[in-house]
Amino acid sequence: MITINVTTRDGERQQIDGVEGTALMEMLRDAGLGVDGTCGGMCSCGSCHVYIGDGAALPKPTEDESDMLEGMAEIVEVRHSSRLSCQVMLKPELDGLEVEIAPQF
Ligand code: FES
Repeated sequence: MITINVTTRDGERQQIDGVEGTALMEMLRDAGLGVDGTCGGMCSCGSCHVYIGDGAALPKPTEDESDMLEGMAEIVEVRHSSRLSCQVMLKPELDGLEVEIAPQF
């Protein structure tokens, strides 16, 4: 199990557990934390937007993810730490990851 520390849109802190190889979006969606994952992980809706804590062992965003985040910046706060959680695959190195769910738009 990989444990993720989540800050919800209400500012509540929760810990959720996920399985290696699944997308962070699926974890957040299935935990009922308000992440819709509307496009099913196709990097085209932005409903899975999160802010990731410092120092996370994540690969850089793909061009598609970067383009989507750039486009979203006009309607929602996009930070240096912004990621689309459907593009973040769980792996053991992410155990203890800090994730803040971004505002809905
Ligand atoms: S689920 Fe649509 S962009 Fe991530």
